[in-house]
Amino acid sequence: MTRLLSAAAPADIEAVAALLQDGGIAALPTETVYGLAGDALNPTAVQAIYAAKGRPADNPLIVHIAGPDDLSALARKIPSAARLLAERFWPGPLSIVFPRQPHVPDVVTAGLDTVAVRVPAHPAFLDVLRAGGRPLAAPSANRAGSPSSTTAAHVLHDLDGLIPAVLDGGPCTVGVESTVIDLTNKPCLLRPGGVPLEALREVLGEIAVHPAVSGELAANAQPGAPGMKYRHYSPTANVIVVDGDVQHAAEYLGWVGTGESAVLCPAEEAACFSGQRVVTYGSLTDPATLARGLFDALRTLDTPDVTHIYARCPLDETGISRAVRNRLLKAAAFQTVTV
Ligand code: TXA
Ligand code: MG
Repeated sequence: MTRLLSAAAPADIEAVAALLQDGGIAALPTETVYGLAGDALNPTAVQAIYAAKGRPADNPLIVHIAGPDDLSALARKIPSAARLLAERFWPGPLSIVFPRQPHVPDVVTAGLDTVAVRVPAHPAFLDVLRAGGRPLAAPSANRAGSPSSTTAAHVLHDLDGLIPAVLDGGPCTVGVESTVIDLTNKPCLLRPGGVPLEALREVLGEIAVHPAVSGELAANAQPGAPGMKYRHYSPTANVIVVDGDVQHAAEYLGWVGTGESAVLCPAEEAACFSGQRVVTYGSLTDPATLARGLFDALRTLDTPDVTHIYARCPLDETGISRAVRNRLLKAAAFQTVTV
């Protein structure tokens, strides 16, 4: 049994901090998604994170710190670009990849010479960081390959009995994971996320986008973020992204839709798919709601009677919509149909 603790109770925050200081692991809320945290400098704790998630050992973890002052203990070189981004976006949903300090355990970085770091914006996570005084490694708190968790209930669904505790801080406000940018060479976006690429470009100018962000990696290509090569965020059903006019999409689904298929779409499109099983996730007029609702909707459709999910999402690659589309494309293993 996993203990359900409350982020609103100071005694529970202290209990989690003590558990983590002792080398234990626990799920904590962040502003993006729930994280499964452990002492980043304790290889045994980090090993326990991989084991609970069933995560492949070659996919490194993001290290969370309380503020930029804690960065030099982890990063060997801190380019001025990183200082500018940290000043503007931390605490917040931005992870930056640095050359790592030698004492950062191999198990955290999956043997890479780099480490991804961020300062999360959730007050409970920051309280735990400050109480423990140690950096915390934390991947998303889901079983590997499942959609990320944006509520404590999602965490328990995946990890009950596999971890000692989850700190309930309510639903995550951003709903998709942090943006990951590599600053070890020329700036390169490895994962779109809570901080839009346009906002990063306002600070740094040109930023390359890793090809894995919008298309499948060639089988022999070197992934920038090792996690890119895995099928992600996937319910058990086959996900297919359907692009194009909503009326055409409805006609198309009239052809292919069967009793075992479902439509995942923004609220304003629901009426077009009458007669189909529909789950909505936010509104097109406010893309932040799409981000917030996406993983919960994917989890709702993760039932044995749904074999195909036809997903609608914004085509425009701006703001948070870029992250929403990226997560759906990854859930679909980049299978798209244009109608
Ligand atoms: O919002 C988030 O980032 C959440 C919360 C809990 O902070 N965490 C999260 O962690 O999404 P995870 O493990 O699910 O995703 C981390 C991503 C993976 O794609 C991983 O490959 C990449 O970051 N990554 C981690 N360290 C890296 C490194 N040194 N170089 C390149 N990519 C790295
Ligand atoms: Mg993850």
